[in-house]
Amino acid sequence: MKKILIINGPNLNLLGTREDEIYGKDTLNEIEEACKKKGVEKNLDIIFYQSNTEGKIIDKIHELSKNFDGLIINPAAFTHSSIAILDTLRAIKKPKIEIHLSNIYSREEYRKKSITSEGVDGLICGFGSDSYILGIEAISKLIYK
Ligand code: DQA
Repeated sequence: MKKILIINGPNLNLLGTREDEIYGKDTLNEIEEACKKKGVEKNLDIIFYQSNTEGKIIDKIHELSKNFDGLIINPAAFTHSSIAILDTLRAIKKPKIEIHLSNIYSREEYRKKSITSEGVDGLICGFGSDSYILGIEAISKLIYK
């Protein structure tokens, strides 16, 4: 079974209570459970990770080369600021998908630019917690093509 790492950036541990009119009512644990179920259907082992710290996210992406077959990442606010995460994504040649719960292109100007998406194969946003499920569909197509 192929292994997929799903990385969640800052404040996503607060899902369920955080601005639920934008991000929905599902907690990160509930999203993780739904992703694991979807993974079974797609023959993918799903490993979830969340950190509020840029360096820890970078260290986790480094693990991709040896330990995982693909990456789904919601870099949260680092999406709009982190050249360091972009460089890390570019350095690692494995299938990579960026996801967002909200449609970042229909929100504030400062959210309309995703720096990190320049280092991934594709971007899914705007479907709430289903963006994660669609991300698994997409990565399975990249891995089992
Ligand atoms: C987000 C969108 C980002 O702009 C924001 O900073 C987040 C969540 C999303 O999933 O919609 O924290 O990545």
